[in-house]
Amino acid sequence: MYEYATCKGGLIMDLRGRDFLKLLDYTEEEILYLINVAMEFKRKKQTHEPHEYLRGKNIALIFEKDSTRTRCSFEVAAYDLGMHVTYLGPTGSQIGKKETIKDTARVLAGIYDGIEYRGFGQDIVEELAKYSKVPVWNGLTNEFHPTQMLADLMTTLENFGHLKGLKFVFMGDARNNVGNSLMIICSKLGLHFTCCAPEELFPNEELVEKCKEFARISGGSVTLTTDAMAGTKDADVLYTDVWVSMGEKDELWERRIKQLSPYQVNQKIIDNAKENVIFLHCLPSFHNIDTTIGKDVYEKFGVKEMEVTDEVFESSHSRVMEEAENRMHTIKAVIYETLK
Ligand code: CP
Repeated sequence: MYEYATCKGGLIMDLRGRDFLKLLDYTEEEILYLINVAMEFKRKKQTHEPHEYLRGKNIALIFEKDSTRTRCSFEVAAYDLGMHVTYLGPTGSQIGKKETIKDTARVLAGIYDGIEYRGFGQDIVEELAKYSKVPVWNGLTNEFHPTQMLADLMTTLENFGHLKGLKFVFMGDARNNVGNSLMIICSKLGLHFTCCAPEELFPNEELVEKCKEFARISGGSVTLTTDAMAGTKDADVLYTDVWVSMGEKDELWERRIKQLSPYQVNQKIIDNAKENVIFLHCLPSFHNIDTTIGKDVYEKFGVKEMEVTDEVFESSHSRVMEEAENRMHTIKAVIYETLK
């Protein structure tokens, strides 16, 4: 039914014992394989077919930053696979305060079969993996958000039935974990990736060059532009993220609103894209003033909608809820394939 199933059908890959830290570490075939496994898990979930394949295994979830989707996805995926979970939040454990990452890695690896980490620098999750004898999964760092990407490309594949050749546009702060990771996955899978942002918020040049090389091999392309209309012309997928990421200072709001308002995903941008364009967002999203931060920003700067208008967010183009659900199926695929 889908590109992978028709091109690579039947191929089994052995990812046992692998970490999942960033997509730079995974090949095109491995990424497509994980998406394919996630689709099969989605089918099993929807048809209530039991799949407790990892009964008796235990995993630790380290969250140094807040989360709704990633935490819930790891927990439900683990429960569906028959596993047990320990959640270690921003407070309540010794991590980082009284205990080093190296010691934490060795202690947890002795108790658990796998470790998820959400936090700050990519170097932290890399260090955790270096000293852990069990797989480590990146649940978001400042630089990368690889589990999010699998859900994003799975949602795209479900909508179009193929990935190669699609024009995938990211609007906003393209230097952040989501912008970086989208550029990597799109260039590896043969999509035409366009980053639409002010030059100051373009991804770093070294990563861009690496992704251009991936694109040369996969048949895709990487384009950076400051021109919102040229960048979004005939887009198949429009994607955006919050203008100030977790861990960044609140003082940045005023500056980012000025910088990124021309890159808001609104009806004009939708009309400039292909007729059947889909809208994606990793969430949470500031598309109204019904949240504490949304209300606060409105009171300070008079902006009711930020990276996407409520009209687009709630429109028939929007696939954000399917995308959020796919977080669970794709995370389940990563856990299963690395631990089975
Ligand atoms: N998209 C995402 O990572 O959501 P959470 O921050 O809720 O996990």
